[in-house]
Amino acid sequence: MTDYDVLAEVYEWLISEAKLPPAEFAASFDDVLRLLPSNAHVLDCSCGTGQLAVGLAGRGIQVVATDASEAMVRRTAALSEEFGTSIRAVQANWEELPDHFEDDTFDMVFCVGNSLHHAAGATGRGAALESMSRLLRPGGRLVLTSRTWELVRARGSRLDISDRLVRRNGRDAVVVYRWEIAPHWEDEHHIEIAIAQVDATGSVLVRSELLSCWPYRYEELEADLHRVGLRTEVSTFDRDAENYMVVAGKTATS
Ligand SMILES: C[S@@+](CC[C@H](N)C(=O)[O-])C[C@H]1O[C@@H](n2cnc3c(N)ncnc32)[C@H](O)[C@@H]1O
Repeated sequence: MTDYDVLAEVYEWLISEAKLPPAEFAASFDDVLRLLPSNAHVLDCSCGTGQLAVGLAGRGIQVVATDASEAMVRRTAALSEEFGTSIRAVQANWEELPDHFEDDTFDMVFCVGNSLHHAAGATGRGAALESMSRLLRPGGRLVLTSRTWELVRARGSRLDISDRLVRRNGRDAVVVYRWEIAPHWEDEHHIEIAIAQVDATGSVLVRSELLSCWPYRYEELEADLHRVGLRTEVSTFDRDAENYMVVAGKTATS
């Protein structure tokens, strides 16, 4: 069992309601999707439960979806079937991607929704980004979204409990994040996520996982991208905002 295999069962409680429909998830990237050529090939390399991949496939884009978690890949394949799209869904962690796909294959690679911090430290992050860059054709783009770790670390270790019940599939749950912030940026940090579903009789069913993560400063991410031949074209980084997006293009010579 890998990380996220348990959370995969209950992942809809962690996605905002607005982004649950695949078409809406894809629409949140309209600005970058405009940059794609016709007949585009796109990889979502941390596909989770597949909303983005299925939303892209629904637009006629050829989509491959990968994830380290087998349970996530199964959910993506099931969502694709439910929406009648054809997606190739493959279990692969970032470092394994070049074993599955040729270099210079994709017009766009997505690594979104707070995924990259799961790469183990600077070395793991560099290897993950190297794989993503290899698979992009020259001129192709990596689209990455991230938490603003500058903010997360400044708040320190803490417990975040949702202030409302979150209702999905007719069931209510309390969502809890426990943040374990280590003394130094480069140390392994932890996030424990618990989804406590409460039924009408008052019974509580809890699914939880302790996840490892290795935060990075925005400047470090930019330098990492540069090292693997990716140049930042768009960045929404703002140290006071919770999340940001970076779009980085693969230079023709890398
Ligand atoms: C926070 S979820 C985001 C899922 C999805 N992109 C979304 O926005 O809903 C992080 C995802 O990254 C995947 N992941 C974690 N480590 C990974 C690795 N080393 N290689 C590939 N995927 C990984 C997890 O299995 C999980 O599905």
